[in-house]
Amino acid sequence: MMKIDVLTLFPNMFSGVLNESILKKAQEKQAVTFNIVNFRQFADNKHQTVDDYPYGGGAGMVLKPQPIFDAVAHLTKECEHQPRIILLCPQGERYTQKKAEELAKENHLIFICGHYEGYDERIREHLVTDEISIGDYVLTGGELAAMVVIDSVVRLLPGVLGNEASPVLDSFSSGLLEHPHYTRPADFRGLKVPDVLLSGNHRLIEEWRQKESLRRTFLRRPDLLENYELTDQQKKWLEE
Ligand code: ADE
Repeated sequence: MMKIDVLTLFPNMFSGVLNESILKKAQEKQAVTFNIVNFRQFADNKHQTVDDYPYGGGAGMVLKPQPIFDAVAHLTKECEHQPRIILLCPQGERYTQKKAEELAKENHLIFICGHYEGYDERIREHLVTDEISIGDYVLTGGELAAMVVIDSVVRLLPGVLGNEASPVLDSFSSGLLEHPHYTRPADFRGLKVPDVLLSGNHRLIEEWRQKESLRRTFLRRPDLLENYELTDQQKKWLEE
């Protein structure tokens, strides 16, 4: 079972997301346990402050090292496995499906979420094992980013998705975007489903899906094809 600890000043932000749908089922199936911790409780000063003014001056506050170091020490005492300690920040490595697959192999993840402010650099240098950004935009805090990473990792854990929704067929894990999907009716107000999908010819259907997947990737995300090894068949389709 994977253990996920989250250090945050806003634990309530997590309650809805972790307790619905697949993440809820994942806990019920004992694939994962979540422990959401307000790291203010580890502040060793009378007023429980977790941030302070930046040395050298300037705008904004900086998260102090002490509460976060002590919270992590508390979470890792008596742990058999070395955890990955993940800091969410716009300066981190850009998050991808490959990273999700890597993290899904771990036993213990600790996420550190800051809000509004920066982190004392010693947290980055001496505590954290991974810095992750979920994209080139700035959020008000790391909480939403942590939830994105948690969601994408937990759905990959064994037994979490049924066979119908196998993660093997996802966009990105194959290196290409998914082909289009249709369901009944075959004619919705004059809008028709492609004939081949109604043909019952499984070979032709599979070929259509592979072609559409490649076409979609070429049109929408040509950058994904730069690191993709095309088969001779796929090269032919692209020339068509
Ligand atoms: N915190 C603020 N913006 C972020 C981003 N884009 N990714 C991860 N953490 C963040």
